[in-house]
Amino acid sequence: MDQNQLKQAVAKAAVEYTLTKIEADSIVGIGTGSTANCFIDQIAEYKHLFQGTVASSEGSAERLRAHGIPVFELNAVSEVTIYIDGADEANPHLQLIKGGGAALTREKIVTAAANEFVCIADESKWVEHLGNFPLPVEVIPMARSFVARELVKLGGDPVWRENVLTDNGNIILDVHHLHPIASACDLEQKINQITGVVTNGLFAIKPADVLFLATQDGIISHRPTD
Ligand code: 5RP
Repeated sequence: MDQNQLKQAVAKAAVEYTLTKIEADSIVGIGTGSTANCFIDQIAEYKHLFQGTVASSEGSAERLRAHGIPVFELNAVSEVTIYIDGADEANPHLQLIKGGGAALTREKIVTAAANEFVCIADESKWVEHLGNFPLPVEVIPMARSFVARELVKLGGDPVWRENVLTDNGNIILDVHHLHPIASACDLEQKINQITGVVTNGLFAIKPADVLFLATQDGIISHRPTD
C-alpha cells in the first residue's frame, strides 16, 4: 500500500471506532491535514448518526460543510465526544508533534475540550524519540524575533515559515535540530512560557488517548506506554 492508501485505511478504522462512541446528540471534533481529510470524507456517509462537528481549522470546516456536515463553534457546544486528528510524529507514549498544517493551536484547544483524543497516522509518523520533524511554534507576529532568540537559547534552530499565517492571524516558527527531545513535557511547558508564544506543536502534557497506526501489516492500535 502507498502512503495515501495507508491514510485511507487508518481513516476507515477511525470511522468504525467513532461509530461505537457516538450518539444522536454527539459532537465530533475534527482535525486538520490529509489524514483528517480522509476521515472527513469517510464519516460523511454517517452524518445522520451524530449532531455535528467542531473543526480545528477553516480548511476542515469548509470540507465538512461541502459534505453537508454541520460545523459548530466550539463556544456553542457543551461537550465534544471524540476528537480525531493526524500527527507529524508519534512516540510510544503517544506524545506527538503536530502543526505541519499550521493548525496546532486550534487542534490543541479542541483536544483539550474533547472527552477522547484519537490520533490517526500512517507508519511513517511512528518514532522512538520526537524531534526530527521541525517543531512548529505559533507566535504573535510582533514577537517573532524575540521568540526566535529565546528558542535558540533552548537549543533549537528556528526557521520562520514565510508566507504562512495561521487561522488566528499569527506566524509559525519551525524549530529544527531538537532531536532527540529528552523530556517532551518539559520542553512543551518551557516553550509555552516564552512571552509571545501562542502555543507549540508538542502534544505531550496531554498526549493522545489512542493511536491508530496504519502499517503494511494492518492497523495497529496503540495505548500509551508509561
Ligand atoms: C496540522 C497537523 C496535521 O495533523 C499533521 O500535519 C499531519 O498531517 P497529515 O495527515 O497531512 O500528514 O498537525 O496542523
